Amino acid sequence: MSVGKSTNMPFEKKEVEEYERKRYRGIDQRLVHGREWRLLRKLLRKIGEDPLLVLDIPCGYGRFSKMLLDKDFSLVSSDLSFHMVKRAGEKGEHPHSRFLSGVVADAKQGLPFKKGVFSLLLSMRFFHHVHEKEEREFILEEFCRASSDWVILSYYQKNLLHNLQRILRRRIKKSRTRIKMIPRRDLYKEVEGAGLRVVKIFPLFRGIHAHHIALLKKMGSN
Ligand SMILES: C[S@@+](CC[C@H](N)C(=O)[O-])C[C@H]1O[C@@H](n2cnc3c(N)ncnc32)[C@H](O)[C@@H]1O
Repeated sequence: MSVGKSTNMPFEKKEVEEYERKRYRGIDQRLVHGREWRLLRKLLRKIGEDPLLVLDIPCGYGRFSKMLLDKDFSLVSSDLSFHMVKRAGEKGEHPHSRFLSGVVADAKQGLPFKKGVFSLLLSMRFFHHVHEKEEREFILEEFCRASSDWVILSYYQKNLLHNLQRILRRRIKKSRTRIKMIPRRDLYKEVEGAGLRVVKIFPLFRGIHAHHIALLKKMGSN
């Protein structure tokens, strides 16, 4: 994570406050946040207006809670950090809100939910912190199991430019980036291996940003 937090160490209360205050403060980060927001709204329109039970995992401080609740979806927010879950819950508090609950869970250990209970599972800005292929495959299998229909997954896609950057970094002995980038064909393989199919992939900023958002559908669902 950009605040230098290891993905295996839950955020503490003060860290959550600092993260929320600083993470999307800069102009470039506000642009990124705005674009992610617009892309997600587009994807949600594609999915439809039916009342949906949505799992936001990891929910972080609830960056997307309002968007999901404004759509009248029922929301469960889950994260490794209790304090993140708590904050996401606070963001879900408004008069007609369908915020159901917050669940502290380690997505790398499996999801504590029944098969097919959510119609949509949203996972933003998590996959690029999972470096091991086996872990990513397991997480995708769990996402597929817990969803009856849709998964929205963001990931960092590797391309030629990033290969060049890596070579340059090695030459000037800069530390390796902690972000895991995956070639598009590998994403397809991992996703399909888990029982999902790629419906569409949207680049955040085509050609200049590695972050992509993929709309996935459970194989065999209508
Ligand atoms: C970069 S934030 C993204 C949060 C949110 N999806 C967003 O886009 O704002 C990553 C989140 O992943 C959570 N996290 C890290 N490892 C996790 C794990 N193994 N299981 C569940 N959540 C995890 C962190 O606590 C943090 O809130």
